[in-house]
Formats: sequence, structure tokens, C-alpha cells
Amino acid sequence: MDTKQKILVIGGAGYIGSHVVKALLENGFAVTVYDNLSTGQEINLFTEAEFIKGDILDVPHLEKVMSGGYAAVVHLAAKKAVGESMENPQLYATNNLNGAVNIINAMVNNGVKNLVFSSTAAVFGMPQYVPVDEKHPLNPINFYGFTKLQIERVMDWFSNLKDFHYIALRYFNAVGYAADGSIRGKEKNPQNLLPIVMEVLTGKRDKLHIFGNNYDTPDGTCIRDYIHVEDLASAHVAAIKKLLQGGNSQCLNLGTNKGTSVLEMVASAERVSGKKINYDFAPRRPGDPAILVATSESAQQQLGWTPRYTDIDEIVKTTWNLETK
Ligand code: UD1
Repeated sequence: MDTKQKILVIGGAGYIGSHVVKALLENGFAVTVYDNLSTGQEINLFTEAEFIKGDILDVPHLEKVMSGGYAAVVHLAAKKAVGESMENPQLYATNNLNGAVNIINAMVNNGVKNLVFSSTAAVFGMPQYVPVDEKHPLNPINFYGFTKLQIERVMDWFSNLKDFHYIALRYFNAVGYAADGSIRGKEKNPQNLLPIVMEVLTGKRDKLHIFGNNYDTPDGTCIRDYIHVEDLASAHVAAIKKLLQGGNSQCLNLGTNKGTSVLEMVASAERVSGKKINYDFAPRRPGDPAILVATSESAQQQLGWTPRYTDIDEIVKTTWNLETK
């Protein structure tokens, strides 16, 4: 008889989800992926994991799948483009709010007790101080961040009312790919800095527009906390283990406590690729804070987790490798 604990990874064919699946398999869990393949890709699926094509808005199907004896669920099936969330909030209300509530309800209805939820730095809004810790006020300035914060609150209520336990992981800026090259699905139509830089390097785009060069930072461009996706993945495994051992429900920031400016990212990509990047300076993008850096001290203490990647060139290299192989 298979005694492995079963984990349901909703959104497991996506960029972060596929890395979480890989890490769970490496840690001896039995994994089922539930994904509608709207942005997730079949190329990201592992043969060792079961795959169920399904939608989080299809409640009867979700309820049926949830009766499969899972020890925990990881929910990463959300829309995540900040700009889009402001233009089409209906899409985010339906997918990120209704979808997440459907998952939580299905869990409670089927006696599945543990949820690791993919949250975001966007729950904080404009930082009042950096590095941002978990006590920082929660004041999202875009609808995307609002949807994630609402679900954190729903989970908190459920953890008080039911036998339901959660850890919300608030990612700062996820970047990079599995260093062994096993995950190859590039995001289609990327909106984030490093994938766009890659498209410029490979000739898919003419140039990078750097949004603002007059911020109050040393080189005038915005500073972010770029965390490698394999470090995010290992934090999910640690969070699941913590919940399975009866750990507390909580929200944890995942970052590296290290900031990198847009120009530093460009310089890193130039070093790694050996090519020049064509860029210009464009107006500021609305809603961009000058500096957003996390302290992950709580996550480190609570989960016994530390990010392994600390050097931006090492991180960029794992993305560039995908372009050159
Ligand atoms: C945002 C969200 C984050 C979300 C992520 C995923 C906030 C505070 N953060 O991160 O929670 O998970 O999106 O979509 O809402 N840049 C350019 N040119 C470009 C693209 C980006 O200069 O073409 C700059 C941006 O101004 C920013 C940095 O690069 O300073 C990183 O941008 P991006 O990758 O879009 O991530 P965030 O906006 O930081």
C-alpha cells in the first residue's frame, strides 16, 4: 500500500505551481495537480504526479476531487496581473475570490484540513517602512492585492470556526527557473520585468521600457526583492510539513531581504547573457512603490526555511539557461 501523504496542488501546471510540484515530489509526497490549463501548461506537468483537468469555478467537480483523501491543498490558481485587475475586476472577483472560496468550502465539506495559500506582497500596498514584516499595515492599492487579502481573512475566520488550518505565503517578486532545466514552460505574454528582459535579449521585443528613473533610490529606478522560484517552492514544502505537524495558521512574507533595482537587473542580465539590452526610460507606472523589500525572518523561524539563492546573477542565470537550451 502506498503510504505517501497526498497533496492536491491547484494551479500545479503554472509557473510557481510546477516548481512546487517538483519540490513536493522530491520530498516524497504523492501529488495530484488540478489545473484548467488557462495559463498553466501541459509541458510543466510531471509524469510522477497525477493530473486532473478542472476548474475551481466548477463546484461539483471540485467537491468530487476534494473527496480524494488529501492531507493538504496548495492553492496557486489565481490571476496575478496587477494592471488587468484594475481594468477587469470582475475577472479577479470571480477567479480569485469565488474560486478560492469554492476551494475552502470544498475542503471543509470533505474534511481536508490544511491549506497553503499563494498570497502576495501586494496585500501591503505602499510600504510605510522597509524591510516589510508581517506587522506592516495591510492596505492594498490594486484589486489583485485586495482579492488576496480578502482570502487571507476568509481563511482566518475558517481557522477559528472549523477544523481548518492555513499558511498564507506572501511572495515578493518571484523569478528564475529550476536550475536542472526540468521546467520549461515560459509564461505567455509576460508582464513582469525579468521575462520581458529575456524577450528583449532573444529579439522577441525591441526594447525594455524602464518605468521611471527619478525615484528616490540610488540609481533612480525601483527596487524589488527578487526571490528564486525554487526557494518559494521549498517554502511551500516546509509550510505543508509545518501544518501536518499541527503548526499554527499564519501569514508569512517570502523574500530575501535584499533589493535589486531595475537597472541592476538589466546589468545582471547583460553580464549573464554577454549581450547588451536595449532600453529606454518611460514614465512611472501607476501604483509602483519605489522600494519593496521583505524580511522573511518569521518564515525562517516558523518554517526552518532559508532562501538558497542570494546572488542576482545566479538567479538570472537559471532564467537565461532556458533561452539558450
Ligand atoms: C507585482 C506585484 C506582485 C505580483 C507581481 C506579479 C505589487 C507591489 N507587486 O510586482 O505582488 O505578484 O506583480 O504580477 O503590486 N518594470 C519596468 N519595465 C517593465 C516591467 C517592469 O521597468 O516592462 C519595473 C517595474 O516598474 C518594477 C519592477 O520592474 O519596478 C518589477 O516589476 P514587475 O515584475 O511587474 O513586478 P511588481 O510590479 O514589482
